[in-house]
Amino acid sequence: MPDLPDMHALPALDLLQERRSIRAFLPTPVADETLQDLLRLARRAPSGANLQPGEFIAVRGAARERLSQRLTQAWRDGEPAREDYSYFPQPMPGLLRRRQVAAAQALYGAIGVGREDRPGRDAQFGRNFRFFDAPVALIVTIDRSLGTGCYMDLGMALHALMLAAQAHGLASCAIGAMASWPDLIRAELGLDDRSAIVCGMAIGQADPDAPINRTITAREPVERFFRVVD
Ligand SMILES: Cc1cc2nc3c(=O)[nH]c(=O)nc-3n(C[C@H](O)[C@H](O)[C@H](O)COP(=O)(O)O)c2cc1C
Repeated sequence: MPDLPDMHALPALDLLQERRSIRAFLPTPVADETLQDLLRLARRAPSGANLQPGEFIAVRGAARERLSQRLTQAWRDGEPAREDYSYFPQPMPGLLRRRQVAAAQALYGAIGVGREDRPGRDAQFGRNFRFFDAPVALIVTIDRSLGTGCYMDLGMALHALMLAAQAHGLASCAIGAMASWPDLIRAELGLDDRSAIVCGMAIGQADPDAPINRTITAREPVERFFRVVD
């Protein structure tokens, strides 16, 4: 076992500090080998009993175009969302609602879209279904029979994937909006009902000039979520 490097020298700390969601990309392709390297690293994430839950499907070409079109249509037609797993509490408690609103303000504020500007908001929201035109478009699935804890494991792998991408000079955004119409995604990708749809993921080189990429979200100070009990 090699000696662990000095913790302070680990660029991982910078990666953690600097990662943020990127929603506009350059068309520069990402090589297959690079994507596989990133996924291999992401899979180094810990998981209970090393179950390594979750699968990643890269959608490309005509399949990607069809999937994006069908998701966009479902959203525009107001097809009821039927997620495979619950995410946001209903109703959203006040504190969480404030965080959600602040994140939305950061996002739409970056592109100068106000609260009442429904067309402006829709134009940005619709880009979710196009994977923000990123060169890499992933759909993330998990076996439906796995327990809630396995979603936690998969979350660690997703974060690891984002950080690995960043270390390669790439950026990313997880896309939960994709998961609203899982039946449609399964049908398009030929997946059976055992595969629960977790989210999409966009990966590629960040477009440095895109205003949307100036979105900066805040975090609560540590005293708000950490305490010591002696
Ligand atoms: C599981 C997951 C799903 C997400 N879904 C979306 C999404 O559908 N659309 C979007 O624009 N951002 C999405 N995000 C990005 C979050 O809005 C973002 O992580 C949060 O506001 C914090 O900002 P940051 O990632 O820039 O630090 C998602 C993030 C996660 C982890």
